Amino acid sequence: MSHVFVIGAAGQIGHHLVAQLAARGHRVRALHRQPGQATALAATGATPVSGDLEQLDATGLAEALRGSEVLVFTAGAGGKGGAERTRAIDGRGLELAVAAARQAGVHRFLLVSAFPEAGRGKHLSDTFEVYMEVKKAADVCLAQSGLDWVILRPGTLVDTPGTGRVSAGPAIAYGQIPREDVATTLVALVERPQVRRVIIELTAGPHAIAEALAYLEPGAVG
Ligand SMILES: NC(=O)c1ccc[n+]([C@@H]2O[C@H](COP(=O)([O-])OP(=O)(O)OC[C@H]3O[C@@H](n4cnc5c(N)ncnc54)[C@H](OP(=O)(O)O)[C@@H]3O)[C@@H](O)[C@H]2O)c1
Repeated sequence: MSHVFVIGAAGQIGHHLVAQLAARGHRVRALHRQPGQATALAATGATPVSGDLEQLDATGLAEALRGSEVLVFTAGAGGKGGAERTRAIDGRGLELAVAAARQAGVHRFLLVSAFPEAGRGKHLSDTFEVYMEVKKAADVCLAQSGLDWVILRPGTLVDTPGTGRVSAGPAIAYGQIPREDVATTLVALVERPQVRRVIIELTAGPHAIAEALAYLEPGAVG
């Protein structure tokens, strides 16, 4: 059982994640910014924690984090509010979480990032270009943090039910992935701390999630 703090807990991946973590006996603290989200989070078995990444400072977030062992960051502006809000949440929000994790001594940090091929071959809006730039800068920030990080880069997110089967690796072909399977992969990463300091691209695929992650442990032979 781990103590897990989820930022973006009321989001679509976040909600699957806190429910799965709580169902597996983990102690979950779930950061959300709208008061109306607390009831649904509590119903999963998580402890809701009210807070807004645009209002908190690192010390305030570190206070909330203290006692957690793993931090999962799955917050994002979701394209709402344009480039500035993307910079504020996906960018500065992630930097804030990294600073707070270091201050609170929470070493394991799992980040939901984005697949570099997202939008490839399409005419991209300026906002999407900023989104990709900010996601990459966030990856760089975390990878240079000295924390025990994993950067998860899912393909295009879909809402079909999870299958429990994925492709996962440092470089794989682009594709889609159900949000529920992203959440299940995050739970598996919480439970498999041997997988560390690696960027994992993730799409739907043929492998059971546990099998796919076992292959990413240091020294694993394929
Ligand atoms: N869409 C794709 O195809 C795709 C592909 C790869 C990766 N991703 C990434 O996957 C992540 C999660 O996706 P999702 O579908 O679960 O997104 P989502 O449903 O939009 O969830 C994002 C969560 O972040 C929260 N958030 C936003 N601003 C916040 C703030 N100031 N303080 C605290 N929380 C805040 C939102 O809160 P509210 O509920 O209050 O709005 C929401 O609950 C995102 O980072 C996204 O960039 C997306």
